[in-house]
Amino acid sequence: MSAPLDARLARFNASLAFDIRLAREDLRGSRAWAGALARACVLQADECHALQRGLDEIEAEFEQGSFATQPSDEDIHTAVERRLTERLGPLAGKLHTGRSRNDQVATDFRLWIMAHTEKLTSAALDLQQALLHSALADLHTPMPGYTHLRRAQPITWGHWALSHFWPLVRDLRRLDEARQTASVLPLGSGALAGTGFAIDRLALARELGFDDVSANSLDAVSDRDFAVVFLFACALLGVHLSRLSEQLLLFSTEEFGFVVLDDSFTTGSSLMPHKRNPDGLELARGKAGRLVGHLAGLLMTLKALPSAYDKDLQEDKEPVFDAFDTLEPALPVLTGLIGTLHLQRGRMRSAISPETLTVDLADWLAAQGVPFRQAHELVGRAVRLAETRGVALDRMAADDWRSISPLLGEEAGGHFDVPAALERRSAVGGTSTRALEAQAASARDWLAAHGRIMSG
Ligand code: ARG
Repeated sequence: MSAPLDARLARFNASLAFDIRLAREDLRGSRAWAGALARACVLQADECHALQRGLDEIEAEFEQGSFATQPSDEDIHTAVERRLTERLGPLAGKLHTGRSRNDQVATDFRLWIMAHTEKLTSAALDLQQALLHSALADLHTPMPGYTHLRRAQPITWGHWALSHFWPLVRDLRRLDEARQTASVLPLGSGALAGTGFAIDRLALARELGFDDVSANSLDAVSDRDFAVVFLFACALLGVHLSRLSEQLLLFSTEEFGFVVLDDSFTTGSSLMPHKRNPDGLELARGKAGRLVGHLAGLLMTLKALPSAYDKDLQEDKEPVFDAFDTLEPALPVLTGLIGTLHLQRGRMRSAISPETLTVDLADWLAAQGVPFRQAHELVGRAVRLAETRGVALDRMAADDWRSISPLLGEEAGGHFDVPAALERRSAVGGTSTRALEAQAASARDWLAAHGRIMSG
């Protein structure tokens, strides 16, 4: 084993280009490890202080951007150790006592995820605030709701906007679950079989902000389920953002014209002078694919890996970093877009065609004692008759209505009342004034519980 590493393998093996992002966590973990070694009487107090001071100085180099990597640095862990050796000489070699890069990298990576779920959480809360703000401003503004992308029943803008608020509540819970899953300390597991020194792992966990310590050293260095949970939370959040984006893309087309995107959130066309392109929404829609890909990719990497550490596990970091880098700028773009939308209330109102109230008419017939299936059939017949007559449903002649059912006549047109249809849906989660106000209040409560107080 004396031949120098082949340059081709060295290049293939190296991870510093991306795991340099773990520098802060690596230094934090190493400082805590030095303390644990001192408490275990492996290091003298002055050795521990010298190591910790050396690590602080290296951290300062990272902060100032003056940390110089060397071509021989394989990864962040070896780079830090190499630098510590340059500064402290052989004392630096004591830091790795009882530790392996296997428990070290798992610890660093978990710390990174714990810190970064919090950043995404804050950006997602901002988006929720923008959605609630928009919902409150137009809580009762009517618009058509769609199924199969066909006009279905009237809803309101507030109802629609809040329909994108609640998925984010669940996404935030999942992000918190990802943080909790990551919050188990592997350090003190050694390479695979545990550490041979008297390390107080609970104290180490507390110092580093972990909720718990791993129960099994093999499991601690083998598994990356915490990264999968994080990627799942990111992928589903990305899917929700893509659905929101797609809806806004549609609503802002000339054909729908329900909303106009603010100029500051559209881009110009290089050729067609009249165009304002919704690039932000399209990117937010498109990036879901890559987030889902990262989740699927890591799951495939982990599948059937024998324990404990295998170098395959080095493949865990890029998807996680990229998932964060994808979502972190996407969320504020959507927040800004929602916050600057111009609603075209007249267009929304006039898109509520009378056909979207057929359920209300059928419900009315049902309330008169007509079995609902029959009422459905009768109203369907009325729709087809109006089509044959070439008139809008609410303008059909009284005789035509009576030919459908004696219960219908002069007053049939009176059933096409949008506010009444909205108001009828008063059960929790519906469109009535009170139901919408209650929904907005619970959205407000959720935000308040997360430190976001909405004015107004
Ligand atoms: N760069 C490695 C990784 O990211 C660190 C762990 C290396 N461990 C080992 N036994 N080679 O996974």
